Amino acid sequence: MSILSPEGTALLYLVAAVCFILALKGLGSPATARRGNLLGALGALLAMIVVFLSTELDNLALILGVIAVGTIIAVPASRLVKMTQMPQLVALFNGVGGGAAALVALLELEHSDTVGAFLAVAFTVLVGSIAFSGSIITFLKLQELMPTRPIIFPGQAIVIVLLVVLGLVVATLIVLDDAALAALGMAGIKGVAAVVGLIVGLTLGVLLVLPVGGADVPIVISLLNAGTGLAVAASGLVLSNTLLLVAGTLVGASGSILTREMAKAMGRSVAGILFGAFAGGSTAGSTVASDRPVRSSTPEDVAILLGYAQRVIVVPGYGLAVAQAQHTMAELASTLEAKGIEVVFGIHPVAGRMPGHMNVLLAEANVPYEVLAEMSEVNPQFKTADVALVVGANDVVNPAAKTSPGSPIYGMPILDVAAARQVVFLKRSMRPGFAGIENELLFEPQTTLLFGDAKDSLTSVLSAVKRL
Ligand code: TAP
Repeated sequence: MSILSPEGTALLYLVAAVCFILALKGLGSPATARRGNLLGALGALLAMIVVFLSTELDNLALILGVIAVGTIIAVPASRLVKMTQMPQLVALFNGVGGGAAALVALLELEHSDTVGAFLAVAFTVLVGSIAFSGSIITFLKLQELMPTRPIIFPGQAIVIVLLVVLGLVVATLIVLDDAALAALGMAGIKGVAAVVGLIVGLTLGVLLVLPVGGADVPIVISLLNAGTGLAVAASGLVLSNTLLLVAGTLVGASGSILTREMAKAMGRSVAGILFGAFAGGSTAGSTVASDRPVRSSTPEDVAILLGYAQRVIVVPGYGLAVAQAQHTMAELASTLEAKGIEVVFGIHPVAGRMPGHMNVLLAEANVPYEVLAEMSEVNPQFKTADVALVVGANDVVNPAAKTSPGSPIYGMPILDVAAARQVVFLKRSMRPGFAGIENELLFEPQTTLLFGDAKDSLTSVLSAVKRL
């Protein structure tokens, strides 16, 4: 017997929905993100408890067993994952959400009886299964378990078009009423159509994500996330569950906004990301180190450059995260500031490997928000900077984005470090960045390289600055 009345259930669902909305608001700023995340988790926990208290559940032992298995896998996986692997984890969790929505809709087909409900089932099965298989491919690409370059084969575009048509046919068969199906000689075909829809969705998910190049994969994760949200919202219609509808819509809307913002920050269009490879657009870069000569220097030289500067702009990138050098970087910045040198951090929206990566890292090292400047704010400041200190960043400062049409990053707005009087790169080798293309700025006369792991290099520079 259910313990909660329908009114009590609706009220608690409302509380959970408010938690989700406040969670999203909290996630909007690094200062409140932690609280926002906790609120969201609390809302989800409340929603789950309400389901148990308000519904007559068959197979209770099985449900609890499955929850236990999920928890045993997810808790250590989330704790052990490195910050740089977070996009893969998000991709996996997102895919599982889409897959779950598709399976629920498949099972609910026999309980559906209105056109609206059948439409929601068809939509959830197709979009949920696309989100599931697409997310698995993004996971495999980011984890480098398969090639990250765009993969296309002859006839792929035609197969995609045929599958889309088949998906629409299947959706129509699910929505048509029994009399219409009987008239077509297809009585009782809805179940088969839904299973075919699931297979079509799974295949489409794979074929749509294979042509996406590695640098664009995070945007596709966000797009699939939006798809999962919409599938979950539709499954809310199937199950007549308002909370699923609200939560799914929130995920769908925020995922769509994030997709647009990330695409804008990388100078891409969403259509170009998905279909660019078919037009020969997105190209694979190389991972081969350049052997052209560069000017390299010692930690002492870099310390002198910094110590006699008036204004330093630090550009952090993926390498800062790999080296876990944020604390040493923060200490170097405060040491320079104590000497009267102005230090600003220039933050590129896609520096690192996930949205807000640099903000999270620097917040962890207690770098004050006031010294972080976004791209539009910091770019005009480079021409008055004595030193641009590029710590483990490459693509986000690569002028090829402005000068080389055909380069995988062409069109991406970059941080204008070349305008600074001196540019110092901290990196380990002459290997390129994520997009796999050479950075001409490394060979310019005003550029110096300090080779080594960013944490080791910064530690040596810091002690040399202290000795000045
Ligand atoms: P990258 O272009 O990937 O460059 C990273 C640099 O860090 C490389 O030059 C690398 O050179 C150096 N590095 C790596 N480990 C290091 C260490 N331990 N110590 C010192 N240096 C180290 O990074 P970026 O400039 O931040 O650009 C981000 C790229 O990732 C963009 O192409 C972006 O599109 C893409 N992307 C972004 C996201 C989001 S949403 N942020 C997600 C996925 C991909 P060495 O190997 O020579 O040390």
